[in-house]
Amino acid sequence: MQNAGLAALGLDWRYVAGEVHPDDLRAAIEGARAMKFVGLNLTVPHKLLAVGMVDALDESARVWGAVNTIRFEAHDAEGRWVSLGQIHGPINGPVHARGFNTDADAITRSLREDLGLEPHGARVLLLGAGGAGRVAALKLAADGVAHLFLVNRTASKAEEIAAEIRARHGRTEVVVGYPTGAIDLVLNATSLGLKHDDPLPFDPEKFRLMQATAAYDMVYRPAVTPFLAAAKTAGCQVANGLGMLLYQGAKALEIWSGKAAPVAVMRRALEQNIYGR
Ligand SMILES: NC(=O)c1ccc[n+]([C@@H]2O[C@H](COP(=O)([O-])OP(=O)(O)OC[C@H]3O[C@@H](n4cnc5c(N)ncnc54)[C@H](OP(=O)(O)O)[C@@H]3O)[C@@H](O)[C@H]2O)c1
Repeated sequence: MQNAGLAALGLDWRYVAGEVHPDDLRAAIEGARAMKFVGLNLTVPHKLLAVGMVDALDESARVWGAVNTIRFEAHDAEGRWVSLGQIHGPINGPVHARGFNTDADAITRSLREDLGLEPHGARVLLLGAGGAGRVAALKLAADGVAHLFLVNRTASKAEEIAAEIRARHGRTEVVVGYPTGAIDLVLNATSLGLKHDDPLPFDPEKFRLMQATAAYDMVYRPAVTPFLAAAKTAGCQVANGLGMLLYQGAKALEIWSGKAAPVAVMRRALEQNIYGR
């Protein structure tokens, strides 16, 4: 996705994946800084650790308490910190690491673009209260969801998120449990669906997919999970988590390059890579 995006933008950069032990994360960030990398993406479990390892946090990383994107910056001629990717010529002086989070915005962008769903005023059932479920719940509340129903195998984790939402986003009415009436969206943020014989991520005796207008599965491999297949049969509009993966990457590319990401090219590259089509 990123290399296709870089090529489409005419940038002679390369995006490579590396495996770093959490104990070595600080050294890896320092190494990237010394080599004047333009930036980094980080995934679990590095997103939380990196918060204390950068020189500055963008508002997005401060709000979500996690860093999934680092931009290395140096002073431009006017003394402002700018992306190394936007400095032409030699880089002298200090290089500074700024942490961002592009995950939360990617969730609601994907809901809007892939399902046409506007969170403001919506009724949403969110299944799962792990790392991704927590960010989704808080982002949906921040974007003005009116009623949020939280369900998780370990109910105490859903209760913790509900308490956080009540403290931070009082306009959203949050309930731990299933909705009784119609809802706009049911969102799977559990890891159920990754394996073909996984059960559905909800209790069919307590919730029926016919209650929902739309269903979103954060899982994107397989493209159609049993949850999405059942939702489609029940008449829901459906989308998988590919858009979420795409938009967090597209935003990172914009942060590094200062240019609009070629989203269609990046989506095509993802689909080819993941689904071979
Ligand atoms: N599309 C994307 O870009 C994207 C990005 C991030 C994550 N994801 C996907 O989102 C899902 C969650 O990721 P995460 O980072 O939040 O993982 P996580 O922190 O490990 O959380 C896993 C969640 O799944 C639940 N779960 C796991 N096994 C279960 C089972 N057998 N029965 C019922 N619930 C079960 C957990 O419940 P407990 O709390 O009870 O353990 C928890 O709510 C994964 O499928 C991941 O691939 C997609």
